[in-house]
Amino acid sequence: MVVSQPALPFDPVADPLADPQISAEQAAEPRLGLGRRILIGLLLLAITLVILLWSLPAWGANDIVVLQRGARLFENHCAGCHSNGGNVIRRNKTLRRQDLLREGVKGPLDVARIAASGKGQMSGYAKVLGDGGADAVGSWVWRQAELGWPRR
Ligand code: HEC
Repeated sequence: MVVSQPALPFDPVADPLADPQISAEQAAEPRLGLGRRILIGLLLLAITLVILLWSLPAWGANDIVVLQRGARLFENHCAGCHSNGGNVIRRNKTLRRQDLLREGVKGPLDVARIAASGKGQMSGYAKVLGDGGADAVGSWVWRQAELGWPRR
């Protein structure tokens, strides 16, 4: 004999998550959720891109190619007076970290500004350093100052 079960509006065995309490509006939720997930994904992507672009200048300053160019420029245009980070004209105005900080030179950009425009008895070298040259030599000088001007 076959016992016929009362007809249920849902089959709890086939679909354990099914809930008769779920309204049609709630049932449509998963599709909305997907849209939201895509939106959040795009938002995260945008944030990642912004952070990446933001840090690009920092990479540029540390870029080995830029530092090598700075070293070459220093050898050609600065070392005559600043050999090994010293100063043959004004002996106390060296490129050593503590002298720079005492003179208010606080980073590669300050060094680049002086390299390009000069300071006191030193004239500016913007023209001979070329496009981006002042920034390159500024990055290299600051790096050397941080390292204590190791002899190469
Ligand atoms: C002809 C010599 C001469 C050359 C070449 C020269 N400088 Fe100078 N530099 C000086 C003198 C002199 C001072 C001190 C300026 C002053 O305060 O009166 C100075 C100061 C500086 C300072 C500030 C240091 C401090 O302690 O105040 C920086 C930075 C600097 N030079 C970077 C450079 C860079 C980079 C180059 C190459 C692009 C360069 N200099 C080329 C003579 C020179």
